[in-house]
Amino acid sequence: MKFFIDTANLAQIKEAQALGVLDGVTTNPSLMAKEGISGKENILQHYRDICELVDGDVSAEVIATDFENMVKEGEELAALNPQIVVKLPMIADGVKACKYFSDKGIKTNVTLVFSVGQALLAAKAGATYMSPFLGRLDDVSTDGLHLISEIRHIYDNYGFETQILSASVRHTMHVINCAKIGSDVMTGPLSSITGLLSHPLTDSGLAKFLEDYKKGN
Ligand code: E4P
Repeated sequence: MKFFIDTANLAQIKEAQALGVLDGVTTNPSLMAKEGISGKENILQHYRDICELVDGDVSAEVIATDFENMVKEGEELAALNPQIVVKLPMIADGVKACKYFSDKGIKTNVTLVFSVGQALLAAKAGATYMSPFLGRLDDVSTDGLHLISEIRHIYDNYGFETQILSASVRHTMHVINCAKIGSDVMTGPLSSITGLLSHPLTDSGLAKFLEDYKKGN
């Protein structure tokens, strides 16, 4: 399973990249705003900066909600760097724009997916990635992981190449369960990645090894 980090924070992206396990980055307008990045030129520059830090795909979301402007904005984003994946909302014009970009060989990420029907549409439109928001479903007492397993089943039935990018991951158990289901990618905060490191037996075991080494040296 690929690990993407879901942030626009350059220090956190650097930290995940330094760990050697990062496959890409996802951003959204809220994450950009959280870092205080506003204004078209600053936003475009921030995407360039993120691409400099990582080797993998970087999702950059369009703001437009109509086909024509989504295409215009998406083309501008895609021209920034070959790593850029045009992120499009799961609305009718987003599906049309997804088909347009996939026909042109430009990578896409269809975002804000909350149902199997939406996931099916994204795959039919040739999306590179399709992002079901599991944490936000859990927030409203709906089983986000169940949605991901249903999508996995349907995509496997037909051999769809669209990658399931489990998004809105909040913690390590989401990561582990996404891996069990066979999600192609997960995107979450830095803590959902670094949290996988922690085990008290690792810490106590290492302390004991070092203590015993010191005794003999
Ligand atoms: C997906 O690409 C989104 O950026 C993200 O995962 C949303 O997560 P949230 O529900 O924690 O805001």
